[in-house]
Amino acid sequence: MTLHMHQAKSSETEAILCVVRSAFGSKQGDEVAKLIDDLLRDPTACPLLSVVATDNDVLVGHVLFTTANLEQCPQAVSASILVSLSVCPDFQNCGIGGMLIAEGLHRLREMGGELVFVLGYPEYYQKHGFSSATVKGYVAPYPIAPEHADAWMVQELQTGIMKRTSGRVACAEALADPKHWRE
Ligand SMILES: CC(C)(COP(=O)(O)OP(=O)(O)OC[C@H]1O[C@@H](n2cnc3c(N)ncnc32)[C@H](O)[C@@H]1OP(=O)(O)O)[C@@H](O)C(=O)NCCC(=O)NCCS
Repeated sequence: MTLHMHQAKSSETEAILCVVRSAFGSKQGDEVAKLIDDLLRDPTACPLLSVVATDNDVLVGHVLFTTANLEQCPQAVSASILVSLSVCPDFQNCGIGGMLIAEGLHRLREMGGELVFVLGYPEYYQKHGFSSATVKGYVAPYPIAPEHADAWMVQELQTGIMKRTSGRVACAEALADPKHWRE
C-alpha cells in the first residue's frame, strides 16, 4: 500500500461521496453523503478541512471537519467539528482512519485551531485523544440521548484551552438539524 494524504480538491467530491457510501453502507451512506455534499457548499461551514487518503491515486478514505462557534463563552475560540470519517471497507483496519484523524488534527492546529468536537464511537475516538465533552462543560448543538452521552467528545489542540472555555456549540447550517445528532 502506498498511502498519501492531501487536502481534497473540488474535482474529488464525487469520489469522496463514493467512499462515504461504501464505508457507511447503502441507507446511512446516502444520508451522510448528502450531508457532506451540502456542507462542502455551505458558506457557514467554513473554514472547513476536507482531507483524503489515496492508495496509488485511488481515493480510499476521507475526513471532514467544519467550523463551530462556542456560544456563551467570554473567550473567542477557534473550534471545529469532525463531521465524518470514512474508509473503504477493503482498506479498513489498516490504520487509515487513525492517520486521517491525526493528519486532520495536525492541519487544524497549523490553521490556529484550538478545539475539535466529534459525535462518534467513544472507544474509537478515545484512542485518538478525544474525551467526554459533556464532562468538560460543552453542550452539543442538539440534545444527545442520555444513553449516548459519552459519544459527544472533545479534544484540545492548544494546551489549556479546555480549562478556559465551555458553552453551547453552534454548527454550520447544513449540520443544524436534530437528525444529524442522533448517535
Ligand atoms: C470507523 C472507521 C472510519 C475506522 O477506520 P479504519 O481505517 O478501519 O480504522 P483504524 O485502522 O485506524 O483503526 C482500527 C481499529 O478501530 C476499531 N474500530 C473500528 N470501528 C470501530 C467502532 N465502531 N467502534 C470502536 N472501535 C472501532 C477496530 O476494531 C480497530 O481496533 P484495533 O486497532 O484495536 O484492532 C471505518 O471502519 C469506517 O469507515 N466505518 C464506517 C463509517 C463510520 O462508521 N464512520 C464513523 C466513525 S464515528
